[in-house]
Amino acid sequence: MKQSHCILGLESSCDDTSVALVRNHELIDCIVVSSSDLQSKFGGVVPELAARKHEEQFIPLVKELFRRSGISWKEITHVAYTNNPGLAGCLLVGKVFAKSLAFIHNKQIIPVNHIYGHIFSIFLTEQVKFPFLSLIVSGKTTALYYVKGFRDIELLDETKDNALGEVYDKVARELGLKYPGGPEIDKLFNRDRPVPRLLSNNPNPAQKFSYSGILSAVCRVCKSIRAMNIENKNEYIATMFQKWVIDGLIVKIKYWTVIKNVHTVTIGGGVAANKYLQEEIKRMNLDSFIVDTRFSGDNAAMIALYASYLI
Ligand code: KG4
Repeated sequence: MKQSHCILGLESSCDDTSVALVRNHELIDCIVVSSSDLQSKFGGVVPELAARKHEEQFIPLVKELFRRSGISWKEITHVAYTNNPGLAGCLLVGKVFAKSLAFIHNKQIIPVNHIYGHIFSIFLTEQVKFPFLSLIVSGKTTALYYVKGFRDIELLDETKDNALGEVYDKVARELGLKYPGGPEIDKLFNRDRPVPRLLSNNPNPAQKFSYSGILSAVCRVCKSIRAMNIENKNEYIATMFQKWVIDGLIVKIKYWTVIKNVHTVTIGGGVAANKYLQEEIKRMNLDSFIVDTRFSGDNAAMIALYASYLI
């Protein structure tokens, strides 16, 4: 019989500092504190500021987590932390903190890939059968995986330039909306508003994800639209942009479900909270699982949970 374990997870890859406890694959508690209010003054994440915030927040957050859950160091068997990918300074704060804790308390340490954490975050709330497709769309990643097991993950496609969340944030900035821009564009989106297609009617699903062209196109529209007599310009641009990018994701998913002959799709990462994406996925003839919004952004619950499957 497998030994029981209790894992302290730490996440610090971008602007969210998070700590969590997972015992025998079950989440006990998770705390996430975002520095996005601070970052919003700059229209995006300033890596140095984010790293300093992690350094300030980790100790009080771990103390609070232990206080809330009544768990003590005696019960902890492992310390898991995000080791890659992410902002270098932010990752380093997490790694040094995790290693120091593990050293002082004599615990085993588990480095965790942040993207794999997102892929398996669905297991925090759902039981999904292998194999499945996993779309991870966040501020740092846009990638599609074919997942056959906890250690059997095939990358099918990833963005060759910007991540989709990052593009949402940039388009939102052009529209004068606050950071993070994804939820703001999502609120403005009007499914019933007729808008032109930005690019080809038949995007080639075998081509890699790419968003630099769409970003430039939207920025150009933002400039030219000022002189035009169009009602509610922000709604118009947000709708046009969102239709194109989300419809593009749906085309990709359809293509890969056929190629891989799979019928289950999961979606994780911050953009998974997008309402239009969620509606379009539900309309497909597939078993679809969307990561709960509590866990779609960066969080340590997914780091500790994935670590629990690596033991
Ligand atoms: O996974 P995540 O919390 O962390 C990073 O990768 O940084 O994702 C954050 C991203 C941001 O770019 C944000 O604008 C986007 O997720 N996002 C959304 C929505 N909610 C958050 N994008 C589109 N629609 C949303 N509802």
